[in-house]
Amino acid sequence: MSFKGKKILLCVSGGIAVFKTAALTSKLYQTGAEVKVLMTDSATEFVTPLTFQTLSRNDVYRDTFEEKDPASVAHIDLADWADLVLIAPATANMIGKLANGIADDMMSTTLLATEAPIFVAPAMNVHMYDHPAVKKNMDVLRSFNCHFLEPGEGLLACGYVGKGRMAEPEDILSTLETYFQEDVGDLSGKKVIVTAGPTREAVDPVRYFTNYSSGKMGFALAEQAAKRGADVTLVAGPVTLTTPERVERIDVITAEEMYQAVLSASADANVIIKAAAVADYRPSMVSTEKMKKSDDDMVIEMERTKDILWTLGQQKKDQILVGFAAESERLDEYALKKLEKKNLDLICANNIKAVGAGFDKDTNVMTLLRKDGERVDLPLQSKHEAANRILDEVIRLDVTHS
Ligand code: CTP
Repeated sequence: MSFKGKKILLCVSGGIAVFKTAALTSKLYQTGAEVKVLMTDSATEFVTPLTFQTLSRNDVYRDTFEEKDPASVAHIDLADWADLVLIAPATANMIGKLANGIADDMMSTTLLATEAPIFVAPAMNVHMYDHPAVKKNMDVLRSFNCHFLEPGEGLLACGYVGKGRMAEPEDILSTLETYFQEDVGDLSGKKVIVTAGPTREAVDPVRYFTNYSSGKMGFALAEQAAKRGADVTLVAGPVTLTTPERVERIDVITAEEMYQAVLSASADANVIIKAAAVADYRPSMVSTEKMKKSDDDMVIEMERTKDILWTLGQQKKDQILVGFAAESERLDEYALKKLEKKNLDLICANNIKAVGAGFDKDTNVMTLLRKDGERVDLPLQSKHEAANRILDEVIRLDVTHS
């Protein structure tokens, strides 16, 4: 069993089962997971934070107002950091708080702030477990897509016999293992770089050349690749889009900045998808002062920018290189020329005049042309669907490669 690289936030609320969670922490650490522990004050009455700190090899969190790092807000950082949150033991109180949106301590606040999947391992007295209020709260959590680790039956610490004993650490581990296995996508283990958006080339401090690219196609590709398990770096020109989950974003403005960012991230990339509309020319001189108009016409001298894809094509060994071609005529001919000239494996060609295609739309109509001559015509579909079809082709190319 290996949870290598998985970030697990272990939320320990107060019950006698905390002693089992100490064993669970140790086992999680041994599987390679990175574990951070968050305790309620009552949990610390059963087992000290030092025990969890030692077993997890990490600081233990418990107080919303004890900010260890002035540069960040700890409960939001923890909430964002986690790949998975496990509440073990989950008391009736903590289940009730989460079900009702109560955030009055660090744990309940973090639980509301996280977008990671939440696993709940209840532990309480049998009558509490059977109480309609607790049952209702658990149903609410199920409706929020929380996963439950059913408690076992037997002699409870309170002397009663019945259901309420926290699931055994081994059973919790095997449930998490199944979850992570199902979560592994077909791009898992692949490093993918995606570029998106336009670039902006300055003329003077108030003017620039750019194009109509919105970045939507590149952001859709980055989002879908991350969902399929890839380790994604998104190099984005100036756009107003939100960074997709689990995507590392590098913002750039000019073609030269994009060149530097892509080249320095490219060495260990398995796949590079250049959806950005990079400027081919920039003003040869950038005026440091605002240019004043005169009564005459104006000519601005332009120079070529570096072709990022062409450079990548020259130095590629085992990478899969995907380019884009936006054409208004002779789609196949022009796109295939680019494929060949830039040494690409795949080019996504779109006719910007087609209905539903083009800049700033949520849909696209594309033809995918492979270097082996195969072509795939994609119908009018959302940019997210088109992104998935492009990634399907990348997987097929990868299989052919290896
Ligand atoms: N590209 C690049 N670096 C540049 C320019 C373009 O990496 N300086 C990439 C784009 O990201 C896209 C592909 O190359 O994947 C587009 O090819 P290109 O020949 O530049 O297309 P156009 O700019 O449309 O060129 P043309 O005017 O020849 O149609």
